[in-house]
Amino acid sequence: MDKSEAKERIERLKELINKHRYFYHVLDNPEISDAAFDTLKNELEELERKFPEFITFDSPTQRVGGEPLEKFAKVPHKIPMLSLNDAFGEEEFLEWEERIKKLAPGEKIDYFCELKMDGLAVSLLYRKGIFVLGSTRGDGKTGEDVTQNLKTINAIPLRLRIPEKKEFEKSGNLFFQKERILELAANGEMEIRGEAVMTKKVFNELNRGLEKEGKPLFANPRNAAAGSIRQLDSKITVSRRLDFYVYGIFSDFGQVYHHEEHALSKMLGFKTIERNEVRADSKSVIDFHKKWTKDRERLPFECDGVVVVVDKIDLQKKMGVIGKAPRYMIAYKFPPEEAATILEDIKIQVGRTGVLTPVAILKPVDIKGVVVSRATLHNEDEIKRLGLKIGDTVIVGRAGDVIPDVKRVLTELRTGKEKSFHMPEKCPVCGKEIERDADKSGTGKNGVNLRCVNKNCPSRKRRTLYYFASRPAFNIEGLGPKIINALLDSGLIQNPADLFDLKEGDIAPLERFAEKSASNLVKSIQSRRKISLPRFIISLSIQHVGEETAQSLADHFKNIEKIRNAALEEIQEVKDIGPVVAQSVFDWFRENANKNFLENLLKRVEIEPYEPREKGKFSGKKFVLTGSLSSMPREEAKAKIREIGGDVSESVSKETDFVVAGDEPGSKFDKAKKLGVKILSEKEFLSLL
Ligand code: IVH
Repeated sequence: MDKSEAKERIERLKELINKHRYFYHVLDNPEISDAAFDTLKNELEELERKFPEFITFDSPTQRVGGEPLEKFAKVPHKIPMLSLNDAFGEEEFLEWEERIKKLAPGEKIDYFCELKMDGLAVSLLYRKGIFVLGSTRGDGKTGEDVTQNLKTINAIPLRLRIPEKKEFEKSGNLFFQKERILELAANGEMEIRGEAVMTKKVFNELNRGLEKEGKPLFANPRNAAAGSIRQLDSKITVSRRLDFYVYGIFSDFGQVYHHEEHALSKMLGFKTIERNEVRADSKSVIDFHKKWTKDRERLPFECDGVVVVVDKIDLQKKMGVIGKAPRYMIAYKFPPEEAATILEDIKIQVGRTGVLTPVAILKPVDIKGVVVSRATLHNEDEIKRLGLKIGDTVIVGRAGDVIPDVKRVLTELRTGKEKSFHMPEKCPVCGKEIERDADKSGTGKNGVNLRCVNKNCPSRKRRTLYYFASRPAFNIEGLGPKIINALLDSGLIQNPADLFDLKEGDIAPLERFAEKSASNLVKSIQSRRKISLPRFIISLSIQHVGEETAQSLADHFKNIEKIRNAALEEIQEVKDIGPVVAQSVFDWFRENANKNFLENLLKRVEIEPYEPREKGKFSGKKFVLTGSLSSMPREEAKAKIREIGGDVSESVSKETDFVVAGDEPGSKFDKAKKLGVKILSEKEFLSLL
């Protein structure tokens, strides 16, 4: 290949690579495989090695930097990088609206609602379409030159994409500005600002890696993103796999509405948030905010609120800037995901199988719009791990959006009056002995759980009843813990079998019962007299027997009589049952109290004939679920898998056949990839059902 041919080929390769970068990173819709893409890049690299005179600043090979910098150069911002005022809650948001309405009397105001990303604001300067300077916000007037690091981000084009004229059709005002836009993009200067973010997935992977190496972890994705951009060695930045979303164009291309800046950014080769929307009034903005308060967990990046922007640029100019923040926009924050509060006490709860669980009693605090006053601490080891003392100030979050958990202690706030906590030596409910469990693996090691040995412990009985009525077992609608407590405390029931003898007249006199609800409750209990074998087994609260094991027992023995009479060796033969679990099942059926209870229960309910699970292409296949599914709760998905003959387990191994990955999948996803286990998207999974 001669020089001019090489030059031509290099130009074309660069263009093609940039086009596929756009399909892959911006549109999320790759047209060619990763492998084919890599061969294009390799060819370009090779040609550039032979003909270094043709290497340009915007070549895709230039994303990875050379030598580490000594320090960052300062960059003055021509247009200051402002900050935003916050609104916490609906009231503050409405106050803001009232204020701005006064600044534009009689005007109809539309709002552009943008998801507020939690990363690092950066500004990108394009001269003649080429990315020449990238800077951090700094103090708003002067930032730092982090161009080389920003070039490592694939979502940032090194050269602006020049849209074709026909793309401007149906694009409103952009259509009328197209000549001006094309001229600016090709020959002028354009300043584009947005947020460099680290996705939650990359963040988790990064921290897992750091943990393995014994290095300090990043507190959150924002710190990790900021730390990665402010790296003197851009090789480290590459490895951090950052992402970038635009939030505005700070060059005048004749925009009439702010949302046009987003639309144009996408045409120029950037990523914008597709979920952003124009909303016509404050009520509808509040709806948008509510929706994302609930759904933000599903976003790939951390999001801490909605940036509400007056859409019309004319009105923005009218409203102006005060101090460092524009008046025409506001950060309407989500309720906090974590909060600091006081650990007032640690109480012990005795579960249905006697396990002692420490529970944090907290000074009530609002987290994500829900008041939280208790959080499970799981076990003694967790208290040790956190280093908790009673009286401590702690950070509390809501794991998976629902269950409150104590994340860490702010030891800086200790006064010396905090008290250490020790697990009790006797059961705090019945005063009987407690024992430490053996490790469930059957190795004879000590486990983490302490257990009350008294099978008649009142707390165990109460919780056994809660479980009996719960969804995986008898699934009795309307029979929750509060009502069970009332029934137990009034002496109307002693054990689960008694539930089926309850009459309307027994319940109605209890406080909190109207006649109607008493009759409904009785109906609902009676409607559950027929039950499947696996549910029946679950309802017995046999230690170590959860949903999976109950299913295996049902599959193997097919009726309760056979399970009841099975020898220990027979139980050990059941698929997925080890010695500790087998012993526990065997012992349960030999205990007198249980024998009586079982007799009584069998007199009152009818176990449906066992129907072997559908023999289909999934019989015996092992599924693992990770991430959240948008179409159904996890429990339902598990039930569906079992219906089609599959098994569900909690961890991925070589034996796993399918991993179903929902939104924000966790480490199970990575493990499946590593082991080469087939991964199904939610859509693929649904198509199997
Ligand atoms: S507009 C005038 N839009 O939030 C300020 N900012 O709290 C220009 N941010 O510094 C920013 N998402 O780092 C804007 N959709 C969005 C945003 C956003 C995240 C960040 C940005 C800004 C900070 C202000």
